[in-house]
Amino acid sequence: MLLKISKKGCLNLINPLKELHINTAQQTIRKDLEIQGFSILQRKDDSNALWQENIQPFPAPLSDFKQSWHDLVADDFLNDGGHYRYRRYAVLTWQADTENHQDQLTLLPQEPHYQSTYRNAMNGGIYRTFAPFKKSTLDNPILKHIIHWVAQSISFNQEKDWRIQAHQFRIEANDKEVGKPTPEGIHRDGADFILIMLIQRDNIRGGVSHIYDADKKLQFGAVLEELGDAVLLDDGKVWHGVSEVYALDETKSGYRDVLVLTFHKHVLG
Ligand SMILES: [Fe+2]
Repeated sequence: MLLKISKKGCLNLINPLKELHINTAQQTIRKDLEIQGFSILQRKDDSNALWQENIQPFPAPLSDFKQSWHDLVADDFLNDGGHYRYRRYAVLTWQADTENHQDQLTLLPQEPHYQSTYRNAMNGGIYRTFAPFKKSTLDNPILKHIIHWVAQSISFNQEKDWRIQAHQFRIEANDKEVGKPTPEGIHRDGADFILIMLIQRDNIRGGVSHIYDADKKLQFGAVLEELGDAVLLDDGKVWHGVSEVYALDETKSGYRDVLVLTFHKHVLG
């Protein structure tokens, strides 16, 4: 896959395939999503194609991509009075252009993030303005490859158009404060599909990713340990949550960094 900037300044992915063909790994993910509503991608299983195909082959941009999590901005909207969350936020559209072999990823103007109190009883109900992604992060080919690969994987009906809310999160913990990756508890995001991918963990314990079925019966629980470990969720079928994190060595702070991408079916007006 090649990267190209169009005359309009859009960030394009050049897809040599005419249709949204998916490979064997993506077919397995689709099957998982269809049968159980989630798919687990962990490097320890040696079958994490998200990592193998989109991240591992690009060590130079990966270094910059990881580094960008050291430059997030404090989340001032935590209603529990906590200071444990740092983030950046961007909204993009992904459009497949199978005729011209150019998939187009477009950054939308920065907008506040809104969740209803039904979706987020703790921090929802207001428009929250978060710091935008840095241009260097948006331009990073790792982000583009991940979005492209996931969009292909979830396009069950040959969708050619997705709206994506992208979040960079850091949850910190120290001797004074535990970190809460999902302070709202077990929840749904109100998306169609969600990718939650680990970037890094440092001096941290806890942070178990839990997935529940429609009746909130636990179906999966594990720590995303390595860079590229991820869960892909059908948000309409399952619920999710992540347990608190604590500093391993309490004389210094620890952190858990993740990339969260929520995919929404995008209807052109
Ligand atoms: Fe969530």
